[in-house]
Amino acid sequence: MFFKTRTHTCGELREVNIGDSVILNGWVDTRRDLGGLIFIDIRDRYGITQIVFEPGFNAEAHLAAGSLRNEFVVSIEGKVRKRPEGTENPALPTGNVDVMVSRLVILNEAKTPPFQIKDDVDTSEDVRLKYRYLDLRRPSMQKNILMRHKMYQIVRQYFDKNNFIEVETPVLMKSTPEGARDYLVPSRLHKGKFYALPQSPQQYKQLLMVSGLDRYFQIVKCFRDEDLRADRQPEFTQIDVEMSFIDQQNIFDIVEGLMKILFKEIWNKDLPVIPKLTFDEAMEKYGSDKPDLRVDLQMVTLNHVFENTSFKVFNDSIKNNGIISGLLAPGCGEYTRNQLDVLTDYVKKLGAGGLIWMRVKESASGTELEAPIAKFLSDDEKKNIIESLNAKPGDLLFILTGSKLKTLSIMGQLRLEMARRLDLIKLNAEPKLLWVTDFPLFEWDEQTKRFYAMHHPFTSPRLEDVEFMESDPSKVKARAYDLVLNGTEIAGGSIRIHNADLQSKMFKALGITDEEAEHKFGFLMNAFKFGAPPHGGIAFGFDRMAMIFAGESSIREVIAFPKTASAISLMDEAPSLVDEDQLKELHIKIR
Ligand code: AMO
Repeated sequence: MFFKTRTHTCGELREVNIGDSVILNGWVDTRRDLGGLIFIDIRDRYGITQIVFEPGFNAEAHLAAGSLRNEFVVSIEGKVRKRPEGTENPALPTGNVDVMVSRLVILNEAKTPPFQIKDDVDTSEDVRLKYRYLDLRRPSMQKNILMRHKMYQIVRQYFDKNNFIEVETPVLMKSTPEGARDYLVPSRLHKGKFYALPQSPQQYKQLLMVSGLDRYFQIVKCFRDEDLRADRQPEFTQIDVEMSFIDQQNIFDIVEGLMKILFKEIWNKDLPVIPKLTFDEAMEKYGSDKPDLRVDLQMVTLNHVFENTSFKVFNDSIKNNGIISGLLAPGCGEYTRNQLDVLTDYVKKLGAGGLIWMRVKESASGTELEAPIAKFLSDDEKKNIIESLNAKPGDLLFILTGSKLKTLSIMGQLRLEMARRLDLIKLNAEPKLLWVTDFPLFEWDEQTKRFYAMHHPFTSPRLEDVEFMESDPSKVKARAYDLVLNGTEIAGGSIRIHNADLQSKMFKALGITDEEAEHKFGFLMNAFKFGAPPHGGIAFGFDRMAMIFAGESSIREVIAFPKTASAISLMDEAPSLVDEDQLKELHIKIR
């Protein structure tokens, strides 16, 4: 029988359609055979409609319906009727009507799927990814893909309206390591040479500023061969942005304008005022450069309390430029020794020397601290600790001390661990956005004993810090910023160096020789000699944003065809072996 195109989608019919003759196309979602009557829900992207096969209405169609199974593709013709009283389904927008079928065409049969095409099916992610095309039939996945589509449209419209130009940049480019490992593509025509897939279009967008394009954006795939996590994929999408003749505030304004529309259109929420924290403040209060402000616990730096202490551990720490960081665990004063040992192990595994804890107790004279180290502390110090942390009887205090960033980062993880234990992470709390600014320009690597660019080597130092670039690089702050949403870094960028002298100072500080710089970034350095405007930009992690807007906890839930945590595509089995001939052409031998 021939196939007729639909008159309506499976999500469309309502009571106004009662009596209409209609044609629906879709997949068999569920099937109930009640002896004489067969009820089928048919599904497409738009929804679900119940159709009814009744021998008295159409015997031929009823007979044919006997062979229908889940996921068969069908086309039906029939009459819309009001559902008999008491059989309406308020859960479905089409639930007041159904269609009495007069003609059934089976367009395609289907094998029994490896899992039910329903939300909340209990299936391993591996099976879902292997049969991703079926997984994508599930309503929740369709919703995510649709929301992502809506986000693309909002982004394009917004940037277009604000005078940005969308420019595509090459996917086969020169390998210029930016931090992660490159994905390399061997050249057939040029033996022994390789293209790299872009980790981001960073250099191209800066060149576009030299070209005078002034405001650029692109929704673009980036590739990084790095260890994967729930919010990392080897190929991911950025909304990449660059602007000329601007300062940080202009970038913040453009970004906030976009966030405002996304908040409204996706969540129907007004954008709150976005607070700004410097990197130093974020580390001291939250032990993270991407703090989750939905968690109310704050760390407190206690160095001022112990300036003249006779307790050796704290004294040494202060002398060595270290930090003493405290955290209040409200109401945890009754934690057992065993619980405290578990937490001590937790921070030790993260690299801490140990965990200092103190119980806050009621005493005749007010409040006192009960702890193994209490005997080493003066009364003043104890009083000061209690005040600084705003501690009350029944609370528990933690103190960690050691080198600054490491100690703060461990305390930050203990903060989140305590938040989990105290059930303080409220996933449905109001979303919390913040800017983190003034990142260090350099990051010291203990293993290789050298400085690395914390963002990338084109990031401008704060101009007032340039003088320390040679004498004390660790002191130099960058004009770099991240946007953080609910503890996830969703965007990062910087004002760039646009002058060749400063750029060469930067390379020097990074231990990159003139020859190396010429070899790796010569084209950019050269371009800067032809009149580069001051410029800066930012890139959003589009998948991460989509993940949070969709209320998911993995970016795989908002990517149509993602890779596993070990960078494999289970569906098409990439990466895979290739023919010997292909390798030969590429001048490659596998050892
Ligand atoms: P950055 O490296 O911070 O900056 O990347 C920008 C944003 O991209 C997202 N992101 C990722 N998302 C998924 N999987 C990954 N593996 C991954 N890596 C990064 C993050 C991050 O905030 N060129 C600069 C931007 C600039 O300076 O303008 C850059 O790429 O959300």
